[in-house]
Amino acid sequence: MRSHYCGLIDEALIDQTVTLCGWVDSVRLQSHVAFVDLRDHEGIVQIVIERESREAFAQAGELGYECCLRLEGKVRRRIAANDKLRTGQVEILCERIEILNKAEGLPFALHENPAEETRLKYRYLDLRTADMQRKMRLRTRLVSALRHYLDGRGFQDIETPILTKATPEGARDYLVPSRVHAGEFYALPQSPQLFKQLLMVAGFDRYYQIARCFRDEDLRADRQPEFTQLDMEFAFVGERDVQDAVEAMIRHVFKEVSDVDLGGPFPRMTYAEAMTRYGSDKPDLRIALELVDIAEHVRHVEFKVFSGPANDAAGRVAVLRVPGGAAFTRKQIDELGVYAAKYGAKGLAWLRVDDLAQGREGINSPVAKFLDDAALDGVLKASAAQSGDLLLFGAGPWKTVSDFLGALRIKVARDLGLVENAWKPLWVVDFPMFEFDAEEGRFVALHHPFTAPKNDDVADLKANAVNSVSRGYDMVLNGNEIGGGSIRIHRTDMQSAVFELLGIGAEEANAKFGFLLEALRFGAPPHGGIAFGIDRIAALMAGTESIRDVIAFPKTASAQDLMTAAPSTVPARQLAELHVAVIEPASV
Ligand code: AMO
Ligand code: AMP
Repeated sequence: MRSHYCGLIDEALIDQTVTLCGWVDSVRLQSHVAFVDLRDHEGIVQIVIERESREAFAQAGELGYECCLRLEGKVRRRIAANDKLRTGQVEILCERIEILNKAEGLPFALHENPAEETRLKYRYLDLRTADMQRKMRLRTRLVSALRHYLDGRGFQDIETPILTKATPEGARDYLVPSRVHAGEFYALPQSPQLFKQLLMVAGFDRYYQIARCFRDEDLRADRQPEFTQLDMEFAFVGERDVQDAVEAMIRHVFKEVSDVDLGGPFPRMTYAEAMTRYGSDKPDLRIALELVDIAEHVRHVEFKVFSGPANDAAGRVAVLRVPGGAAFTRKQIDELGVYAAKYGAKGLAWLRVDDLAQGREGINSPVAKFLDDAALDGVLKASAAQSGDLLLFGAGPWKTVSDFLGALRIKVARDLGLVENAWKPLWVVDFPMFEFDAEEGRFVALHHPFTAPKNDDVADLKANAVNSVSRGYDMVLNGNEIGGGSIRIHRTDMQSAVFELLGIGAEEANAKFGFLLEALRFGAPPHGGIAFGIDRIAALMAGTESIRDVIAFPKTASAQDLMTAAPSTVPARQLAELHVAVIEPASV
């Protein structure tokens, strides 16, 4: 249909006749000439239609935005070059226009940048924009660079099932009812975790897969119900083998796809250090602010909000120094309190340092009266407070305080423009094996139940589960967890012990994971691996906050596809075939 792409027309083609196909990006009609910007996936070129080309000129009057054209014309040098356009030195003197399809009643003009809901409903139009085309291309290049890298290094790309059995990664499963087995269900994989482990048992030495994963969990900007992992597994490795191999890969693709030098080796930080200094297990190292513990300075004060947790081994009292934060209004400080409450804060004590030299006179704080001179002095010194700073205090259970001060750290740094423009990767290591889930009243695995403990002794692990450390690791980039993995348990006795500690009894373990326990008995090699979030890496490379921007057809925060209107009801007959009855929400 065409001889060239619009966006690739250049001076080398001057005087040649070309045939182009594309969409009308803009039309300007004048009395003797019409200008059309014609766009295809390569870009835009200017089309000139002179009145002398009667038929074409008449057609130009009918052209609307986004109508789909094929046209023929001669390339010529543009009188007034447009340096902003790749094709800006040339234009096409159009001789013939064929309207392939009109575009009528467009819901929005592409340049308008409408609300995301509208964009998602008409995603096929949204994807026509240069910005979305660029992001999707970047994603293609990322996946292609990863594949190319791994294919050249002996990794085998193996597909694993989508209709499968539940593999817990901490989210709810999406279930698919079986028609032939009444009352039975497949689960969509939360990850290929167990299959990739079984591939190692099967003797495949290095595996990867660009794998779609499904998780029914609370969605955020960096989480979708279905998303894509680069999933990897290695046989006969320790954590450093895996980490070194994938760090080199990530460094390579950032350079190749985005010309970004991540440097290296990436720093390593333990989970405990990350939580203590940054209040996060995925610290954004572009922000210099750190949390400072002040329990020792407030242990003796009357103020129970501080002295309570300060004297409790499971408690934490810490301060976040906000440089220049004294300029915040009361309203802004109150808003920070509301923000912290979302992360579990029961309150947010603060202290404004107007003039450090004036001591108590120079500060303004609703809690200063509760702090005697020793406490006040200790807090100011420990936090290295300066005149003009605002101190934000967290007091309470260790994890809660770390979480909300960690969240505030990021918020104030963004608000105050304190986020360095840089790339800051790191490894977070030495995660606890288990975390107590208050809702479920039991231990849950911090990574997943197949992660090996550092201490390989079953009896020891059972005796000391609370303090046990895992062989898991996360790769973090600019405050995003882009990958997570671990060395796996490869012995049945250890796997059974971990299930037991997680409250999964022998019977349940056999019903759910009998195939794994059995496989581990037949000469399973030591193995480990990792999975990277492709969507998150693409979003980082594209410089966008939301992974929806790098997914062609994403879902909303309430897990809907606005374009196809999924999920949707199905006919009663189809449900009956699947042996499924719906309990109407109202009657639940
Ligand atoms: P994990 O659950 O840490 O590990 O997932 C690995 C990576 O996948 C990305 N990710 C997501 N991206 C978008 N939306 C989501 N809902 C979502 N959930 C996770 C993150 C994360 O780092 N089987 C293990 C890996 C292993 O142990 O080898 C796993 O799935 O970037
Ligand atoms: P209260 O005694 O509850 O009125 O609290 C006095 C001050 O301490 C207020 O400024 C509260 O915002 C603050 N505060 C209360 N609970 C906490 C907490 N867990 N962490 C930090 N500050 C708190």
